[in-house]
Amino acid sequence: MKTIMVIGAGQMGGGIAQVAAQANYSVILNDIKDEFVQRGLGIIEKNLSRNVEKGKLTAEDKENILGRITKSTSLQDAAAADLVIEAAVENMAIKSQVFSQLDVICPDHTILSTNTSSLPITEIAAFTKRPDRVIGMHFMNPVPVMKLVEVIRGLATSDEVYKTIETLSTSMGKTPVEVNDAPGFVANRVLVPMLNEAICTLNEGIASVESIDNVMKLGMNHPMGPLALADLIGLDTVLSIMEVLHEGLGDKYRPCPLLRKYVKAGWLGRKAGRGFYNYP
Ligand code: CAA
Repeated sequence: MKTIMVIGAGQMGGGIAQVAAQANYSVILNDIKDEFVQRGLGIIEKNLSRNVEKGKLTAEDKENILGRITKSTSLQDAAAADLVIEAAVENMAIKSQVFSQLDVICPDHTILSTNTSSLPITEIAAFTKRPDRVIGMHFMNPVPVMKLVEVIRGLATSDEVYKTIETLSTSMGKTPVEVNDAPGFVANRVLVPMLNEAICTLNEGIASVESIDNVMKLGMNHPMGPLALADLIGLDTVLSIMEVLHEGLGDKYRPCPLLRKYVKAGWLGRKAGRGFYNYP
C-alpha cells in the first residue's frame, strides 16, 4: 500500500489527506475544481504550520509532508492508487457515478473505500464489479485530532480487505473499530440523534444555545456542546444523517424542523460562517 487517492478536498478529505501524508503515504488529493483542491491544501498547510510553531514538526517535516501530496482534478489519476478514500458529498447518485468510474479506472488490486457518514456500504459496493474490495472508512472530524476510524464491512467485503484497512488505519495513527453495515453505523446512530434532540430542545424554547451546550459540557464532560458540535460537523451533514436514520430506522429519528430551517437558510455551521453560533 503506497499511494492513496482522496476524493474530495473539503474538511474531511483534506484531513484524511493530511494524516495519510504524515504517515508517509503518497497522496493524490482530488476534487472537481482546482480551486477546491487548492483550498484543501491551504488548510493542510495551515495545520502543519501550527504544528511547526508548537515544535511538534520541523519545517523540513512540513515540506516533506506537503511534497507527498499531488493535486488532481481528474478521476483518471486513480489509475495510480492502491487505495481510494472517497470523501465527496453525501449523495448516492454522485457516489454511484464515482464508484462505477473508479471500478473501470483502477487496477484490480485497488481497494475502494468511502468515508460516508451513513450511506450503505453494500449499496455503494454494488456499483462496482469488485464489491469484495469495497469498504467504509469513517473518519471523525477534525480528522487530524480524532483517533477513531469506523471500518465498515459491506455484505461482500472480504476478510483480506478488512485486515488490510485495519492495518492501514493503525499505520495512520488511528484506532480502527470494526462495524457492520447499518444506517448511521455506530458513531452517527448514537451521536446524531443527540444533536437533533438538542436542536429540538432549542426549538421548544427550553433553553438558550449557550445553556444547552453548557449543560452537556459541564454536566457530561463533553469537550463541546451538541449545538457547537453540530456546527462543526455541518448542519447539512447532520440533516442528511438524520434522514438516513429516519428512513432506515423509523419515526423516532425524525429530523427537527429547526434543523431543516437552518439548512434551507444556508446556515450550515462553521463552514458557512453561521449556524447556532456566528463564525466571523
Ligand atoms: N484541525 C486540526 N487540528 C485541530 C482542529 C482542526 N480543525 N481543531 C483543533 N485542533 C487541534 C488543536 O490544534 C490542538 O492541538 P494540540 O493538542 O497539538 O495543541 C488540539 O486539537 C486541541 O484543540 P484546542 O485546544 O483548540 O481546543 P479543544 O481542546 O477544545 O479541542 C476539539 C477541540 C478537538 C475539536 C474538541 O472540542 C473535541 O474533541 N470536540 C468533539 C469533536 C467530535 O465529537 N468529533 C466527532 C464529530 S462526529 C463525526 O465527525 C462523524 C460524522 O460523520 C459526522
